[in-house]
Amino acid sequence: MKIIGTGRAYPAKVVTNAMLEEFLATSDEWIRERTGISERRVISSEKLEDMAAEASRLAIEDAGLQPTDIDYIICSNVVNEYVTPGLGCMVQGAIGAKCACVDINVACSGFVYALDMADDRIKSGKAKNILVLAAEEPTRMVDWSDRSTCVLFGDGAGAVVVSEGDGYLSSLLTTVSKRDCLYYERSLEPTPYITKEEYSAPMYMNGREVFKMAVLSSSRSIKKLLKGASLEPTDIKYYVLHQANMRIIEAVANQMGLGMEYFPHNVDYCGNTSSASVALLLDELNRAGKLQKGDKLMISAFGAGFTTGTCLLEWTK
Ligand code: ACO
Repeated sequence: MKIIGTGRAYPAKVVTNAMLEEFLATSDEWIRERTGISERRVISSEKLEDMAAEASRLAIEDAGLQPTDIDYIICSNVVNEYVTPGLGCMVQGAIGAKCACVDINVACSGFVYALDMADDRIKSGKAKNILVLAAEEPTRMVDWSDRSTCVLFGDGAGAVVVSEGDGYLSSLLTTVSKRDCLYYERSLEPTPYITKEEYSAPMYMNGREVFKMAVLSSSRSIKKLLKGASLEPTDIKYYVLHQANMRIIEAVANQMGLGMEYFPHNVDYCGNTSSASVALLLDELNRAGKLQKGDKLMISAFGAGFTTGTCLLEWTK
């Protein structure tokens, strides 16, 4: 498959580090030094499904297609206000598409896993044009009195349309079952029969542990894909990494022996938007005219699970 269109949408509310200083024992200096984040876009009056539909419309328009040309929707999402139906189903109706839809939850790696599923479906001949969407509101999963997590996140929706082609060169998906370092637990409705203890609590994250696993798994996967394709690190135009923390991106760059010019980023003004981050950044690069036909891109994302998804693309648009 190949990417033929991209789109993105953000919430209107911009929350700066200075605004967080008003109710948290934190500082702009601490947040910027430890994370690289200056501000984030945070859902206030918007509904995630509306932002997801907006990003999808823009991607379909950029692809030069109509919503009815889309024959499958894969939506990566961790949480939204509906447990069911899936977010992809709501987006399908909102944009006027008619195809089958599936939601996946692979935490922050979800967009890469969704791209990989799209590639399989196109290769099998079951679909021609697929909308791959990642829409996330992680700001609704964290405790806003916990300075160690709430400063990190932002919301957003990014989408691409993929079609038949040869732009998806290789991929590597890995999962190591490791719930304790990063999870968000919610209790379900009570029944007369439940005897076990259940909890609802905001997201828990062991930041240091996640940091180490992210750097290790991403850089290891990137090296494997480069080796498999007989490429040097400098043969890649951009490394589009999950935008979790500037220091993680810098550490991966360091592992690869590359300068930061290879690592575009938007974590500084978006925060960590979970699986949407790579899709948002791809759209930014595309619309800024920074991607030329033939450019090689390495995408790598990591998140709860612990999951990692890495793929090597050639830009063919
Ligand atoms: N402002 C001020 N001080 C803070 C803040 C804050 N916002 N947050 C934590 N601190 C304090 C801590 O309480 C601690 O104080 P203490 O020494 O008195 O106990 C001190 O700063 C150091 O805390 P650490 O947690 O050791 O700080 P660290 O340098 O590890 O940075 C951070 C924390 C930014 C979370 C880092 O570990 C990190 O980036 N980890 C990766 C996390 C991540 O990116 N997660 C998302 C990826 S996975 C996904 O996307 C779902």
